[in-house]
Amino acid sequence: MSKSTVKLRNAWNVIRILTSQPKADPISDSFQKSIYLDNAATSFPKPECVYDAVDRYNRENGRAVGRGTSDAGQQLQQTVDRCRFRAAQVLGASAKEQIVFTLNCTDSLNMILHGLLTPGDHVVTSVAEHNSVLRPLRHLEANRDVTLTLVDVDDAGFFDAAEVEKSIRPETQLIILQHASNVTGAIQPVEAVAEIADKHSVSFAVDAAQTAGHVPLNVEQLGADFVACSGHKGLMGPLGTGLLYVAPGMEKELTPARQGGTGSKSESDTQPESMPDRFESGNHNSPGIVGLDAALGYLLDNGIDQLRQHEITMTEQLCDQLRSIPSLTLYSNDDRKRHTGVVSLTSELYTSDELALLLSQHFGIDTRSGLHCAPGIHRRLGTIERQGTVRLSVGFQTTQDDIDAVIDALQQVSAG
Ligand SMILES: Cc1ncc(COP(=O)(O)O)c(C=O)c1O
Repeated sequence: MSKSTVKLRNAWNVIRILTSQPKADPISDSFQKSIYLDNAATSFPKPECVYDAVDRYNRENGRAVGRGTSDAGQQLQQTVDRCRFRAAQVLGASAKEQIVFTLNCTDSLNMILHGLLTPGDHVVTSVAEHNSVLRPLRHLEANRDVTLTLVDVDDAGFFDAAEVEKSIRPETQLIILQHASNVTGAIQPVEAVAEIADKHSVSFAVDAAQTAGHVPLNVEQLGADFVACSGHKGLMGPLGTGLLYVAPGMEKELTPARQGGTGSKSESDTQPESMPDRFESGNHNSPGIVGLDAALGYLLDNGIDQLRQHEITMTEQLCDQLRSIPSLTLYSNDDRKRHTGVVSLTSELYTSDELALLLSQHFGIDTRSGLHCAPGIHRRLGTIERQGTVRLSVGFQTTQDDIDAVIDALQQVSAG
């Protein structure tokens, strides 16, 4: 069959799927089971202990953190303290008070950018950043007289630390960069950038949304001033959780965006200066933090190195087999040490949305198509005109059967 006949047949397939009824009510009581390869968006499934902990909290505790002296309130407080301690352990911070609970990584990044930058400040970042970095920065550029330099990345999505150094000016206040790309999976040379930031006395913030829990990270060894994490991705906690690490002393540089009740120093009508209360106003997401605590316990028990090894094995097998399908192009390098479990691809036969829809509706495989909130890297890869890529992202629960199923599905839809 010629390529154009295949294209026509595939186009009909797509039209049929697009016009057919969805298989299930999306908010049905019984969700359909699928193969989940979208761990870069949020990890799923979570370890069983996370579901158990959240369920038990909701049924048996239900208290607000730091707002009461009951036994149940004290137990909850201990769990929240343990979560903070475990988060510090996982991230390599020696004082748990330097860990702030946030809503998600976007919240943490906004706290850094809005809290630190003042008129006249210059910021160095990269074209590959997520919109959670770029949009607050563009907002501050338009409204607070902040200037930006975006360093470029190479064809595999890596930025060069030397380019970062060349972009530093006397008024540079902050370098903010991703630890890994959510599109190519490239693990960036943040250690080299940390040294440069230190040499030039510039603050350094790391967006660790795609690495926290997936790739060993020690914030103190790295010497970062701020590290923003999602609690619900590699750290395996529930959605609605995030973390912000603030290096000792740097809290003074950061103006809290919110003020309010902290359950501490209530006699004062001004915000406490102490960490972490300075940045934690209002009631906590207690079920989320309880779930995150269980997830971090799971991570510490199993070891991030061990889980990473599993993700590397799964990603290697996925990439090796994807390369044998001629109509696919992969945007991922072969060096697994410099790569997470995120793999992006395009097809000669389908747009990214069509391919993701086929995988989902015909094979029950969840991937993520489009620009992944990171338009700059798609512009760089030349995938923006093609509606972006299909992203497959493995997690600690991904099995060999999942990989075989997605390869089989891609071979079927790509067959001539
Ligand atoms: C690199 C990167 N930064 C930031 C975010 C935002 O994370 P969150 O959804 O936790 O706000 C994401 C989410 O996908 C991401 O991939």
